[in-house]
This record gives sequence, structure tokens and C-alpha cells, in this order.
Amino acid sequence: MAFGFFLCVILLLSVWDNTTKCDYIPNEVLHMECRDGFFMIAFEFPFTGNEPRFDAVDDTGVYPITNQYATECGYSVSVLPLLGYVELRASYFSCHTNNKDDKVFTFNFNLIVTHEGKEVTYALNKTCSPTLPWSPREITCEVNYMEVSVRNEVTCPCTSKRDDWNAALNPAYALAASDWQVMLHRDGEQLMPISLYEARKQGYVFQLTDGRLVFRTPYGQPDSLSTEVNGVPVEVIHATLFSRQNWVVIMVDLVAACSMYEGSYDSGYMIWKTPEVLHPLVSGLNVTQVNVGVKGELVAQPVAEGRGYIVELQNSTVQISIPYNAEGGYRKSFVSGHLYEFYIFDLYLEQISVDEDNVDTRIRFHKTLATPLLPRPVFTENRTVLEERTFTIYLGDVPEDVELASVYLNGQEFTVPFTNAGSHTLSKVVHPNNTHGYTLKVPFDDPVVIQQWSKEHEETQHRLDINYTLTVLPENEPYYHLASVMALTDVPPPAFEAICSESGISFKLDHRPFDYLWEIRIGSDLLTSELAAQRGYIMSNDSQSLLLNVPLFTHGYEYKNFTLKGFFGTFEILVQDHETEVQSSTVKTCPFSTTELIVCSTDGRMTVVADLSLAVPSGGVPAQTNLLDEYCGPQEADDTRALFSFPLNSCGSIVKLSNEYVTYANEIFFSKKGTLKNPVHWSNDIDRVIMRCTYRLDGLHRLFSLHRFESDTAGVGRIVHSAHSTEGLSGPTIEPTVWQTPVPTTRLSPRPGYHPPAQYIKVPSFLNSISKKGATGLSQTKVTLYFGL
Ligand SMILES: *[C@@H]1O[C@H](CO)[C@@H](O)[C@H](O)[C@H]1NC(C)=O
Ligand SMILES: *[C@@H]1O[C@H](CO)[C@@H](O)[C@H](O)[C@H]1NC(C)=O
Ligand SMILES: *[C@@H]1O[C@H](CO)[C@@H](O)[C@H](O)[C@H]1NC(C)=O
Ligand SMILES: *[C@@H]1O[C@H](CO)[C@@H](O)[C@H](O)[C@H]1NC(C)=O
Ligand SMILES: *[C@@H]1O[C@H](CO)[C@@H](O)[C@H](O)[C@H]1NC(C)=O
Ligand SMILES: *[C@@H]1O[C@H](CO)[C@@H](O)[C@H](O)[C@H]1NC(C)=O
Ligand SMILES: *[C@@H]1O[C@H](CO)[C@@H](O)[C@H](O)[C@H]1NC(C)=O
Ligand SMILES: *[C@@H]1O[C@H](CO)[C@@H](O)[C@H](O)[C@H]1NC(C)=O
Repeated sequence: MAFGFFLCVILLLSVWDNTTKCDYIPNEVLHMECRDGFFMIAFEFPFTGNEPRFDAVDDTGVYPITNQYATECGYSVSVLPLLGYVELRASYFSCHTNNKDDKVFTFNFNLIVTHEGKEVTYALNKTCSPTLPWSPREITCEVNYMEVSVRNEVTCPCTSKRDDWNAALNPAYALAASDWQVMLHRDGEQLMPISLYEARKQGYVFQLTDGRLVFRTPYGQPDSLSTEVNGVPVEVIHATLFSRQNWVVIMVDLVAACSMYEGSYDSGYMIWKTPEVLHPLVSGLNVTQVNVGVKGELVAQPVAEGRGYIVELQNSTVQISIPYNAEGGYRKSFVSGHLYEFYIFDLYLEQISVDEDNVDTRIRFHKTLATPLLPRPVFTENRTVLEERTFTIYLGDVPEDVELASVYLNGQEFTVPFTNAGSHTLSKVVHPNNTHGYTLKVPFDDPVVIQQWSKEHEETQHRLDINYTLTVLPENEPYYHLASVMALTDVPPPAFEAICSESGISFKLDHRPFDYLWEIRIGSDLLTSELAAQRGYIMSNDSQSLLLNVPLFTHGYEYKNFTLKGFFGTFEILVQDHETEVQSSTVKTCPFSTTELIVCSTDGRMTVVADLSLAVPSGGVPAQTNLLDEYCGPQEADDTRALFSFPLNSCGSIVKLSNEYVTYANEIFFSKKGTLKNPVHWSNDIDRVIMRCTYRLDGLHRLFSLHRFESDTAGVGRIVHSAHSTEGLSGPTIEPTVWQTPVPTTRLSPRPGYHPPAQYIKVPSFLNSISKKGATGLSQTKVTLYFGL
């Protein structure tokens, strides 16, 4: 189509003429066909163009086919602008058709198309030879006119209608001239005869062809009769044409009768009716056959049945029922508040009847049927799968002439196709039943989704209001379809990322909108900046994320798998819902290595890795060391270090109790047992290695149970190397790798310069005395035992 127009535009530009003749038009858009009794010209044009027009052309001139002219001269033009379709039907007996012996008909016409403001005229022609012989009487009930043609030769003056003929004769005899005259009848009344010229002026056209007399009239003429037959409206025109030639008066009765039934719609069917007998003069006769077709073309019976056409004779009325969406019809979507559709069907019907004298009458009906506006809802379906955390909404049953132009997601417009700006996507699905659909996917955490915490359900509500803008093509009329989806999800507890470092573990939490629902705990303590400061955690918290750096040996670590090479430290952060107390945790275990360490566990175990390089005399090895109890040897030792791990109150540990603290102490000795075999050289500045674990008394549940020890918190451990201490054993001690809040040393350490005699308290005996005195006796007696090692 475009190509054809293109050629013509070039022509136009070069000629600078508003009406250019252009004889090229592509076959795809122009269809010219021969049908029974008429030419059928169909042309497809683009929606935006003006409606095409037609001129009828013959030797005498060019005749624009206007509405009025069409009804008088046998043309019928129907335009479906929204479908870009125009159809011209021209009767073989139309005014400007070249007729050769009623056998070959040639129709010359102009098709005038407006293209880019310029009119382009295509001179076209079509020649047809009817395949069927002409019936003695042919009646055409076109959409805009009635036409009847009868065989010209005078056959027998039929006896049954003699009265009629006689009635017509009297005035006819008196007034008839040698020229043809016409007398119209209305409701049994005869009107004054008029000349053919006068009749033409009144819109009646009579034509005498080679073998036929043709009479045509628009509907609704003053002389036509509108009546009802079996409840069906019928219009009848009855003209008697006569001519007196000498003593013979030739009269021809021309009667056309057409059903004026508008069409109706019932339960999915478009219905049209025509009485079996339209008029006694037309079909006083029995209907012998009814054929149905579409767009001026009959279809064979099986095909008609296959398409669901129903032809019934009811109450002497022929009733045709066509399924609303039958093949061959047109469909169009329409917006009027809601989305509707309607169907148009060009019904073509042929009724063949036979009168008593076996003379055929063939009646052709052209009728455009239309359905009322039928609701054509589109639907949305919630295809969300919660686990995908994405809304999936399907918009379906979108008719083929409707397109999605844009989507408002919670009021924010996104035109189709989506640019890849957001995380939401749209895909189109086409179905074989001429509908299509769109699948919209919007992740729950897309910024357009509205999130609300539902306290009642203890879930997050994700909400998406969708306003689809659909446009009906080609006129681009918008239609809005609304949908709303909602989903509830559990808020997953915030999860920390954790990274090991040499000196501790770093935790990171990216803030989310709903994290205020959760509180962060270390053990049973709420994480606050105060707690962090108190325990030596390094915390930073901005609007983006929370960073928590937990140095090794700070409160909250658990240790295991101690070896000389290293050990594992585990730190756990708990996340707890305020209300439900549902907890989740992030646990991170990292490998660490140190040269020395002391760990005083909550279950009463002292684990020590000590550097003994100065404590072992030359020639000796750390493996030959032991604790106060000489039977407690190292678990592991290398050239310089040894690992001891033992219950606090074993291996000869010395216990010291104060008002608030209990301290367990032990010492690593070079084993003198080994000296015999491996002579060692003792020196005076040999390093003494003393380990102490101090626990707060108020955190202890069981102090000196033989079987169990329980403390809320780990003890504070120290390894004291006399060799490193400038103040000797009584001086302030170094605290290797211990960063916990130090227990006030004044309570535990001897006062400077004061060296009380060491008191060794055997744990079992002390335990006995406590249990005898009872727990309160301890505080009443205010036992203050200082000891030094
Ligand atoms: C009819 O149209 C054809 C092209 O379709 C053309 O060749 C022929 O000359 C035309 N005839 C008349 C009489 O215009
Ligand atoms: C038949 O037509 C008559 C006259 O119009 C009407 O009264 C009657 O109801 C119709 N019967 C049926 C079954 O349609
Ligand atoms: C018309 O129908 C009537 C009865 O319905 C019948 O008697 C008559 O023979 C039929 N005429 C023709 C020509 O079929
Ligand atoms: C068209 O086909 C699709 C897919 O089979 C179906 O979901 C839809 O309901 C159909 N629509 C109509 C109007 O038949
Ligand atoms: C849907 O969007 C259109 C276009 O913006 C607007 O006119 C209409 O009011 C919207 N409908 C609703 C219910 O929000
Ligand atoms: C949509 O589907 C989801 C997932 O199946 C469901 O949770 C939700 O209640 C549904 N309904 C609406 C109106 O969103
Ligand atoms: C971190 O800051 C956010 C506000 O940015 C606050 O809601 C949250 O309670 C803070 N967290 C901690 C542990 O201080
Ligand atoms: C820690 O030691 C235990 C045995 O005490 C062992 O099963 C486990 O695999 C060790 N863990 C690591 C990480 O080596």
C-alpha cells in the first residue's frame, strides 16, 4: 500500500496539481469482483486518511456518487472508517454501467483518495458477465434503494391478476400517450400517471435495457407503502409502466417489496427477519429456497451451517440468526466508560420463489447487521508466588485492536515498552484466539512497591496499585483498567555479614526499612553504643549500615580447638523481634593465632599458651614443664611454648577470695624430674610464669563445686612473667592479649612494696569451710585474703 502511495506522491510533487490522475493502485488494497447482479469494489485505506470517494464515469461524463445519487442510480457505498475499509456495490443496471445485451457489463469509475492533503484519482474499470441467467423478475433490496427488473417481452396477461390489470387500465387508457408513462399505486390507490421525465425528477429511475425493464427507487419515497407483514416492517413500491402503441396498450407492473426489519440481537445472535411473502404481487408465491451469505456473496449450505448461521421459517417469516462473532464479520473495540466491542455483519440473503405460473422471482437482500455494544472486559490475574518475592500480574483477554500504552505503578507512570530503568518487567503474550495479554513483574523490594508493617499479622504488607492505560486502535481512545495486589511476607530478620581479621571479627548490617522491628543482642545484652564502649567493641552506625568490630578476647567470644598454632574464636550476634521474641543469629567462627594467651572459661577451665623461652633453662624444653601439680604437664609443646588446659581448681591451683573476686592462680615450672637425664643449667634470672584467672563473685553460680563451675562471664586471665616485670612478682602485671575491662588491679594486686606471705588455699578445703558456714558467712566475715605468687 505504502509503495503505491509513494509513487503517486512523486507524481503529485512533479505536477503540482491537486487532482492528479494516477492509474496505479496495488492489488492488495483494491478488490474488484463480479457478483450476482452487481459489481463489488472494496478498498482498504489508512485510518488517518480522509474517506475515499467514487465517481461513476461513462461517455457522457463524470458523476460523483453522492448519497442521493447512489440511491437513485444503483450504487451503494459503505465506509467503515475505523477499519479503513470502503465498499462500493454497483448494480449491473446502475445508471452509468455500459450494458451489452444484458450480458456484458462494464463499469468505469474513479476512486478518489486523499493522501497527505492531496487528492489522488485512480481511473478504474471492471467488466462482468453474470454467470446466472436473469430471472424473469429480479428484486434487489439494497441498503439504500430497491430495484426491480423484469423481462421486457410481453408474456401472457396472467389471468389471476386480470382485475388488477383492468383496474389499471381505465385511467391508463385515457391518459396514456405513445410515450411511456408511469402510474404509481399506493395502498390500492392509483395516482395520476406521470412522464418518465417527471418520475426521474421525483427520484424514480426507469431504464429500458435490451431485454429488461428496470425500476429503482430510494427507500421512503412519498409514494411507497410502509406496512407490516407478520409483525415485520415491509416497504412496498408499486409502479405500472404503460405505453400505448396504436390500439395496443402495453403495461408492465413493477413491484418491489423489501423487509425493513432493522435487525436485533439475542443471546449471541444477530437476527434478521423477512416475511416469507413480502407482498401478494411480489410473492404470492411459495418460497422455495433461501440462501445466506456475507459481504454480497452466498456461501454453500454446509459452510453456512459450519459458521453457525441459522435459517428458520417461523410464523411465515424467514428468520436468519448469525453468531455475533461469525466469520466474515467485522469487530471493533469501543470505549464508553467501560471497554466494549461490537460486531458488524454484512448479511446477504437470496430468496427464490415461484408463482403459480412458474415464473421465478429472485430477491436479494443486503443488510448490515450490528450487535449492540457488548461488554468486553479484560481481566487481571494475581500470579504472584510469594517465594519469588515478586508480584506477577497477568492482564488478559486484551482484544487485538487494543494495546497497552503505559502502566501506573502506585501512581508512577511507566510507558510501554519499559526502559530498563527499574527492576520491573513487562512481557506480551499472544493467544491464537485473537487476544493477547501482558505479564507484569514487580519485585517486592522495587521502590514503587508500598511496604507496610502489619502489626496484627506481624508481617510486611507489600502493596501495588496498578492503573493500566490501554488504547483502542486506531483512534487511540484510552481505557483504564485498575488492579491492586497485596502480599504479606515475614520480615526476614536482618542478617549480618561477617569477616575475620587477625585481631577480631567485623560484622556489617545494611539497614532496611523494617529493621526497627528487631533488636540486636550480644548474649542477653542489648547492643547499644554504651555497651559497645564498655566492652571495647568498635561500633559505627550511620543511615546506611551498622558496623561492629569485635576485637578478639572481648566479651562474647567462645574459643575452642586450642593448639600452639592457633585456635578458633566464635562470636554470635542475636537478632530478636521485640514482640514475638523470635530470634535469629549470625554466628561467625574465625581462626586466630597468638604467641601467648590465657583463657578463663565460664565453665571453669584455664587454657594457657605461654612463651617459656626464658623459663626453661638451657638444655631443657617446654615439653618438660608442669604446673604446681607436677603431674599436670602440657598438652602440647614446641621449642619455646607450651599449651596447658586444666580445670581451675585442679593441678594445684591456688584460690584467693576477696569481697568481690575469686582468683585462681597456677604456675609453670620446669620439671626437675628431667634434670637427671638432661642436665640443665639453672640461672638466677630464670623466668617464673604465673597464670591467674579472676572471676567476679556476683557472677558465679557455683563457686567451688567439685564437679561443676558456672560463671556468667569468662574470667579475666593474666600471665605474669617475672622476667618481663620490672617490679618483680608484686608489680603490675602485663595482660597479654586481654582487652577486657580490667578488674581493678588494686584489689587483686599486692600493694606496692608490700609482700605478704603467700597463702595457698586448697580449693577442696576452702569449699568445705564455705559450705559449712553457708553463703552468707562469706560476706559477713569479710574474708580478705591477699596472696602473692
Ligand atoms: C480498464 O482498466 C485497464 C487496466 O485495469 C486498462 O488497461 C483499460 O484501458 C481500462 N479500460 C477503460 C475503458 O478505461
Ligand atoms: C405470528 O404472527 C402473528 C401476527 O403478527 C403474531 O400475533 C404471533 O404472535 C406470531 N407468532 C409467533 C409464534 O411468532
Ligand atoms: C405452494 O404451497 C402450497 C401449500 O403450501 C402448495 O399447495 C402449492 O402447490 C405450492 N406451489 C408451488 C408452486 O410450489
Ligand atoms: C483466549 O485464550 C487464552 C489462552 O488460551 C485464554 O486464557 C482466554 O480466556 C481466551 N480468551 C477468550 C476471550 O476466549
Ligand atoms: C488511571 O490513570 C489515568 C491517567 O492518568 C487517570 O486519569 C485515572 O484517574 C487513573 N485512575 C485511577 C482510579 O487512579
Ligand atoms: C495474590 O497472590 C499472593 C500470592 O499467592 C497472595 O498472597 C495474595 O493474597 C493474592 N491476592 C492479592 C489481592 O494480592
Ligand atoms: C543504628 O542507627 C539506626 C538509625 O540510623 C537506628 O535505628 C538503630 O537503632 C541504630 N542501631 C544501633 C545498634 O544503635
Ligand atoms: C575442633 O576439634 C574437634 C574435636 O575436639 C574437631 O572435631 C573439630 O573438627 C575441630 N575443629 C576444627 C575447625 O578444626
